[in-house]
Amino acid sequence: MGGDERSYRYDESYEEVVRLSDGQRLHLRLIRPEDKALLLAAFEQLSPDSRYARFMAPKTKLTEQELRYLTEVDGVDHFALGAIRRHLVSKDEGVGSARFVRLQDRPDTAEPAVTVVDSYQRKGLGSILLQRLVEAAWERDVRWFATELLAENTASRRMIESLSPEVKFRPSGDGAVIAMLPLPEPDQTPTAPGFLVGTPIYRMLSQIAQAAISVRPRATRPPKPPD
Ligand SMILES: CC(C)(COP(=O)(O)OP(=O)(O)OC[C@H]1O[C@@H](n2cnc3c(N)ncnc32)[C@H](O)[C@@H]1OP(=O)(O)O)[C@@H](O)C(=O)NCCC(=O)NCCS
Repeated sequence: MGGDERSYRYDESYEEVVRLSDGQRLHLRLIRPEDKALLLAAFEQLSPDSRYARFMAPKTKLTEQELRYLTEVDGVDHFALGAIRRHLVSKDEGVGSARFVRLQDRPDTAEPAVTVVDSYQRKGLGSILLQRLVEAAWERDVRWFATELLAENTASRRMIESLSPEVKFRPSGDGAVIAMLPLPEPDQTPTAPGFLVGTPIYRMLSQIAQAAISVRPRATRPPKPPD
């Protein structure tokens, strides 16, 4: 990860299953270079309004260069998380993403972006992604998020206010607002309406379920010698 030797909870091995308010289960993991098709398909599921809110400009397509930028990240200065719906028979579906990009001249600050495809909005996913993003940012020494939004972007504003209730949005012209929000320490972050099963035991059980590893009888432990 970007030549950084530290170990992170949110690394390539991170996987978590979260449940949305309607009961659907989604998998969260880091975005990889091979996710270009998944990301493109998700972009195509976004309404023009959601695209406008995300890019603050009309956007009808993603170029090859943009796709590379969005998927080939170093995981430290540019970190990206994806939410995936696994289907039994059809291909995985990308339904949301969250990323931050560290500011070059202020390394403790990053610009975040969270996007959820329209059919999955208002089910808690945006808040879950933002909470995980804050945790990943914190472990990479990011302490502030600096963001610019359309003033009318109520969903984003509420999502941000839930995370950082004292946040102030200042008008920045052309119907936009900007905010600098201090990131709450992860253990103080309000619990998002998901549930955490991305623990080592969950990973092992999920590998067993996917028959990725075989289960062998555990070797009998030799009797403990007397003291
Ligand atoms: C912003 C966005 C990520 C929120 O995702 P989401 O999954 O709908 O978010 P949640 O379900 O967690 O809802 C977050 C809060 O916003 C509120 N909300 C969500 N959609 C809303 C809407 N259309 N109008 C008003 N409030 C809304 C929710 O009620 C919730 O508020 P609460 O915590 O007070 O209950 C999503 O709307 C989106 O992708 N928009 C387009 C891209 C964008 O604007 N990204 C942000 C800028 S980079």
